[in-house]
Amino acid sequence: MAGVEGRVAVVTGSGGGLGRQHALLFAQRGAKVVVNDLGGSRDGTGAGSEMADRVVDEINRGGGDAVANYDNVATPEGGKAIVQSAVEAFGTLDIVVNNAGILRDVTFHKMDDAQWDAVLKVHLYGSYHVTRAAWPLLREKNYGRVVVTTSTSGLYGNFGQSNYGAAKLGVVGMINTLALEGRKYNVHANAVAPIAATRMTEDIMPEEVLATLDPAFVSPLVVHLSSEECSTSGEVVLAGGGNYARVHYMQAKGAAFPGVPSVDDIASTWDQIMDMDGAELGQPLSG
Ligand code: NAI
Repeated sequence: MAGVEGRVAVVTGSGGGLGRQHALLFAQRGAKVVVNDLGGSRDGTGAGSEMADRVVDEINRGGGDAVANYDNVATPEGGKAIVQSAVEAFGTLDIVVNNAGILRDVTFHKMDDAQWDAVLKVHLYGSYHVTRAAWPLLREKNYGRVVVTTSTSGLYGNFGQSNYGAAKLGVVGMINTLALEGRKYNVHANAVAPIAATRMTEDIMPEEVLATLDPAFVSPLVVHLSSEECSTSGEVVLAGGGNYARVHYMQAKGAAFPGVPSVDDIASTWDQIMDMDGAELGQPLSG
């Protein structure tokens, strides 16, 4: 097998926006696709089968092979049912693209528990539930590709998105470890940080900028990361409007003390601790 041909892919939240484009491209490249979407609104309220059904029709009419699933990624039962859909329809699962997402934007000062929880549940727990349900299958078959969807809001911060940013950096924390634990089973895990014109961004960027950000630009990256040939794992790659770039933490040379330094020692070496000249890629402790 080459690329993603003949592989079985689950794409969560693929009833619209970026996920739809990913699902269409997977199908075009010969993968069988589970189009999962809860079918709700941008803030996660509501549900329905039309969104997923429409994408499945589009794929199947074009000669591809797709089935719909309407389960909620935010629950353990939902995660299991999504993976089960792939197994029932296609006999196995090779690729998990965690893309489903919602927004509940509000400044931290006004954040309530429900707004915090709803966003964490879909993005962070959602990525966990679906990937957790898939993991034994991938390990057992000695093949798997996991993609999570992060955001510059998590990587760098964004006003009014502390809940979203926390969830989005949480999924990067998850794949950093999945990359280490999956390596010997040929299971790779990476994150994409998209920037695209979808219902999620339609009112936060000017029209002329949105016009340059067709979500289709992001999908070739997602499909590449999901392909047999791609051995990259544990990386974050940004994609938007035709630009693609790796994102990685850099660690400064810093300062070292033989014993516990005083607060004054830290203060007096602060410039050296913060200096990024000669910084190197941050590395895990092991692996
Ligand atoms: P979108 O709103 O069009 O897509 C999200 C999809 O997820 C929707 O179709 C929605 O129905 C589905 N969904 C929501 N909650 C779900 C649940 N609990 N279970 C199953 N499906 C659910 O927005 P977009 O932009 O396509 O977002 C896709 C992903 O990309 C999200 O994770 C988002 O956070 C991320 N992202 C998007 C950016 C952009 O510029 N559009 C920037 C950074 C990240």
